[in-house]
Amino acid sequence: MRIRVLGSAAGGGFPQWNCGCENCRGVRLGTLSAEPRTQESVAISADGEAWFLVNASPEIRAQIESFPPLHPRAPRHSPLAGIFLTNGDLDHCLGLLCLRESQPLAIYATERVRRGFTQGNTLYATLERFAGQATWHRLTPGEALDPEHPAGRASGLTVRPIAAPGQPPLHLRGRLAPAPEDNVGFEIRDRRTGGALLYLSGVAAPTAELRQALERADCILLDGTFWASDELIALGLGERRAEEMAHWPIGGPEGSLQVLGRIGRGRRLYIHINNTNPILREDSAERAAVSNAGWEVARDGLELEV
Ligand code: MLT
Ligand code: MN
Ligand code: ZN
Repeated sequence: MRIRVLGSAAGGGFPQWNCGCENCRGVRLGTLSAEPRTQESVAISADGEAWFLVNASPEIRAQIESFPPLHPRAPRHSPLAGIFLTNGDLDHCLGLLCLRESQPLAIYATERVRRGFTQGNTLYATLERFAGQATWHRLTPGEALDPEHPAGRASGLTVRPIAAPGQPPLHLRGRLAPAPEDNVGFEIRDRRTGGALLYLSGVAAPTAELRQALERADCILLDGTFWASDELIALGLGERRAEEMAHWPIGGPEGSLQVLGRIGRGRRLYIHINNTNPILREDSAERAAVSNAGWEVARDGLELEV
């Protein structure tokens, strides 16, 4: 399967419109060795014809334009065969509303994420203007499915959602008690090659099941939001620790770099990187620590083959 990273940043992107932190200022001024990044989304295809997105970022229009295989092949057409959602956060769902131009959409999400996005959302009516505009396919953690190919063929992919410790989206906090279907990772297997991608862009802490999936993965895209647990607190930009925001930090003795080591059978990359994270700076000590441990930092436009 072919994997294209469309966006590699966490919510807000890099730089973030209202952020003047050292990283955001430096990347704007061009004084940092760091690349700007759009909000996290990847495109995946087994046959190069039908493409599936994982997450629909608010920057989806520009992300589609950035990658010619996602361009239409007829006056009204899209090679987008389906969109998988890891959770209901706006950096992962807002892009759905940007795809309102009368194109049928197949959306794969847990029932909880579907309800969180559709219920009480006046704007959702824009995806319900005709029968069949949005078709939701229910994801259940642990239950693998073969997504539908628009040409009626097999997509060549099998997707298994795995429950990952997470939270309801910020706009539903306090209104919904946390539940296992709030957040999932995906084990995406190419049925021809047998190769598997483990996609886990948001995870508060590892579980035994996730650890097993990481071990058998041929490529890993993991939550790289924060380097340090107290990253936002130390910068005076927030009050919550990484884990309280459902993000497992990279650094420190309990961090993913130390705990996971050279896990898996292939490439290991961090994605969903917050603009405050020092690994964005190519010459930082934290970036060197990541590289020395056998991990990479995803960037927009990167392609992977599994
Ligand atoms: C997160 O990853 O923690 C969320 O994107 C936060 C948010 O929605 O701003
Ligand atoms: Mn996010
Ligand atoms: Zn910033």
